[in-house]
Amino acid sequence: MSRKFDLKTIADLSVLVGTGISLYYLVTRLLNDVEAGPLFGRSKESKNRQLSQWQKLVTKRPELAKVDLNSYEQSVLSSVITSDELDISFEDIGGLDGIIADLHESVVYPLMMPEVYTENPLLQAPSGVLLHGPPGCGKTMLAKALANESGANFISIRMSQVMDKWYGESNKIVDAMFSLANKLQPCMIFIDEIDSFLRERAATDHEVTAMLKAEFMTLWDGLVGNGRVMIVGATNRIGDIDSAFLRRLPKRFYISTPNKEQRLRILKVLLKDTKIDDENFDLDTIASGTSGMSGSDLKELCREAALNAAREYIRLKRQIMVNSKKDDSSDISIEMRPLRTTDFAAHLKLDAQQPIHSVSLD
Ligand SMILES: Nc1ncnc2c1ncn2[C@@H]1O[C@H](COP(=O)(O)OP(=O)(O)OP(=O)(O)O)[C@@H](O)[C@H]1O
Ligand SMILES: [Mg+2]
Repeated sequence: MSRKFDLKTIADLSVLVGTGISLYYLVTRLLNDVEAGPLFGRSKESKNRQLSQWQKLVTKRPELAKVDLNSYEQSVLSSVITSDELDISFEDIGGLDGIIADLHESVVYPLMMPEVYTENPLLQAPSGVLLHGPPGCGKTMLAKALANESGANFISIRMSQVMDKWYGESNKIVDAMFSLANKLQPCMIFIDEIDSFLRERAATDHEVTAMLKAEFMTLWDGLVGNGRVMIVGATNRIGDIDSAFLRRLPKRFYISTPNKEQRLRILKVLLKDTKIDDENFDLDTIASGTSGMSGSDLKELCREAALNAAREYIRLKRQIMVNSKKDDSSDISIEMRPLRTTDFAAHLKLDAQQPIHSVSLD
């Protein structure tokens, strides 16, 4: 009898302990989630990123240590890029000098010297700037260089991400985006693919989308005159943007497909750290043969050309290894040859009359 009782007690006890353990894990997990914030914080990686971004910001500006962030603002922290993390400067951008000069007046100076713009109401800083034009011509690059140059913090948001990832909570995220920018000013909010969100409002818009747009406009209007938070949008399809939003983006810059002169400048920038065979290299020929190409096409072209020289180097080295029956290539010292016009030839659109230096590659 006592043996039976013992067994029953043991069984009861183990059920109790088992339930206790599962309950413990459930509660700790829930607590972790609450502590981590509602959205991003669930994964350890994003939590770490938020923390490291915040530490960087506080190191740069110790007064931020006193600022409290709510959980949504913490979520937006993952999209903050501090100016020292931005490795693009205006020198890396070719052929857009005129636009860069204008952008200084519209974006860089209001962020750097707000007093100039607040003293005289006539000089109010624009509430937003829109970069538009075909893909791959440097819009994202320009925005990054702007933040870098002005020393501003940079919140980069892809609107499609906000809509997909945080549907339902997206208005809280948009709210947090503005309030965090205010806390971190000078700050630039860069909204890539702005058309995917601010497109023409329609009766068929989902309620959440319509509310979000209205919310966005109200928050945006709250920024007017405060040059220290600037919205910069980028789009390939300006025609799709709602006119009410366009009105809030009075400064618009068209970043076109580069002309020959601009392609020359872009190629110079792209090849500035690459060895060139001066005698067999004609930048003008390459610039002429690349009409219609965007900046990113030109980058791909230069990469292909460099790969051409690299392939030749690999082939040569392997040949030497085979000939000398060596397994180790470290003591074979040959140099990679500099680039020639012919490395680009396969992708150039050249006139029949336009000869290019024909140098044998073998
Ligand atoms: N004017 C330029 N000078 C130097 N490099 C350029 C230029 N324009 C484009 N590039 C190269 O092309 C790449 C793509 O440019 P970027 O991302 O800025 O294009 P985008 O206009 O934002 O395109 P999308 O509309 O597709 O977002 C850059 O990383 C850069 O290497
Ligand atoms: Mg872009």
